Amino acid sequence: MSAPHHNVAIVTGASRGIGAAIAERLAADGHAVVINYAASAPAAEALAAKIEQAGGTALPVKADVSDPEAVARLFDATETAFGGVDVLINNAGILKLASLADGDDELVDSQIAINLKGTLNTLRQASRRLREGGRIVNFSTSVVGLKLENYGVYAATKAAVETLTGILAKELRGRDITVNAVAPGPTATDLFLDGKSEELVERLAKLSPMERLGTPRDIAGTVAFLVGADGGWVNGQVLRANGGVI
Ligand SMILES: NC(=O)c1ccc[n+]([C@@H]2O[C@H](COP(=O)([O-])OP(=O)(O)OC[C@H]3O[C@@H](n4cnc5c(N)ncnc54)[C@H](OP(=O)(O)O)[C@@H]3O)[C@@H](O)[C@H]2O)c1
Repeated sequence: MSAPHHNVAIVTGASRGIGAAIAERLAADGHAVVINYAASAPAAEALAAKIEQAGGTALPVKADVSDPEAVARLFDATETAFGGVDVLINNAGILKLASLADGDDELVDSQIAINLKGTLNTLRQASRRLREGGRIVNFSTSVVGLKLENYGVYAATKAAVETLTGILAKELRGRDITVNAVAPGPTATDLFLDGKSEELVERLAKLSPMERLGTPRDIAGTVAFLVGADGGWVNGQVLRANGGVI
């Protein structure tokens, strides 16, 4: 694992959900993957073992993305293990639903800290450290377009991430690094399903003309396109992967 590897990807929030599917897909596509997580060590370790058993290379690394020093250590650990960083997938995120009237300070501060500041923390390190030819994929949401009630703070953090995407693409001029965002629609993970009735899940699944929820694999495929050779001319864009909800 200490030999230099020239396709090294950090996937934040990769212990579960969409991030775990991205880590598996990028490993299958030949990347050494760093499986970042905040709390779910057993899940991250199990995923790393599964990837290694399939012939891939994976390293679980704990780091709360809202902590800039922890994020610097995440990049240090990646460079130590694999010799550099080529790809950053900014997938870690949280969702807390409430109307603007009812949302408390914790709901506001935690989503800003993880979804927005967390993304800023990793983008800062990636801007300084990504090797030439690298790729950055941020995570937004189709709710930025749908503007559903109770998603206000969450959608606002993700709208900010979309803005950062276009600006960083320009700041990295001359380094052959693309910066894009993927904006999923309703996708079957804990983040989406927790706290929703079966009826509401069914209604949201039917929003798409495909009449189903997205799967983590659907989103991993979109990320793999942006990171792979065929995605190299897409830069500074937001790609909504949502089966057509908007
Ligand atoms: N699911 C959807 O319908 C949907 C739709 C649009 C956009 N998205 C976006 O897609 C991304 C992934 O969502 P998901 O549905 O896969 O969520 P999820 O199933 O809840 O998984 C979230 C992942 O993020 C990690 N995480 C949470 N806080 C973190 C922190 N402070 N530092 C590092 N990692 C942290 C979690 O790690 P632990 O296990 O250690 O807690 C977990 O691995 C998010 O950015 C989300 O906003 C999702």
